Amino acid sequence: MQIHSGISSLRSALKDRGRVAFAPTMGNLHEGHISLMTQAKQQADTVVASIFVNRLQFGPNEDFDKYPRTFDADCEKLQAAGVDVLFAPTESDLYPEPQEYMVEPPAIQHMLDGEFRPGHFRGVATVVLKLLNIVQPQVALFGKKDYQQLMVLRNMVRQLALPIDIIGGETVRAEDGLALSSRNGYLSAAERQEATRLFRVISQIREQICHGAHNFPELEQAAVAELSGAGWKTDYVAVRQQSDLQPATSAKQALVVLAASRLGSTRLIDNIEV
Ligand code: PAJ
Repeated sequence: MQIHSGISSLRSALKDRGRVAFAPTMGNLHEGHISLMTQAKQQADTVVASIFVNRLQFGPNEDFDKYPRTFDADCEKLQAAGVDVLFAPTESDLYPEPQEYMVEPPAIQHMLDGEFRPGHFRGVATVVLKLLNIVQPQVALFGKKDYQQLMVLRNMVRQLALPIDIIGGETVRAEDGLALSSRNGYLSAAERQEATRLFRVISQIREQICHGAHNFPELEQAAVAELSGAGWKTDYVAVRQQSDLQPATSAKQALVVLAASRLGSTRLIDNIEV
């Protein structure tokens, strides 16, 4: 696996590489990330991954400084997954001057996670557009674990007419159901056990909808109450339309249940399609 930190050396390395598939990450890689690399291999001649902890998408009181950085272990995992080229820029490689031109996503950036993380999706869209311009892949892969992020990026690529197919990878979970996440490493042993509740409550909502329940606000409130009874502080549990993440109005639509909640100081998100 080649490793490049500079934009121009990466660009020369990607000349005449055939069809390129690209999966951007912030590192501290787990099986969820690796599943994107495996899918990328099936899509293209050359697989490119990136590792960059993007300051622009973190709020001032968020975990940018303590975000886990495990570069050597990450490289071993990418190599084993058959990644051909790793782009691992430093901050001054990617932002040699202050990034003043920003991608401003539409209203979707202010709902759900965006309501609790102002500016987050603007930072994500900006860095991803920049990474796509640098790598110029034919295919890019993102996980459904970050459902709203996937939608923001899909819409961006479509509206800006980038010649890139976006593939959404299914969420990879631990055996007990917890969605794999770099932030799971912040959990104490007791919190790690409790953490499975988040997937349980959204799965229960899905079951209830499949069995005919359609009072969505009631389902959401019951889930928030269950979480709060177990010590969680919930930002949202929401039943939404898959198409645009607007509130669900009928169980006939394709729906998705999304949740974000804090256990101790760790904020976890998860979702499940209905
Ligand atoms: P990061 O959290 O490192 O995630 C990188 C990619 O892995 C994202 O597309 C994410 O949705 C996917 N992913 C994370 N956990 C997953 C799981 N359990 N199953 C399947 N896929 C999973 O998301 C980001 O980084 C950043 O916002 C980024 C897009 C790199 C821009 O900075």
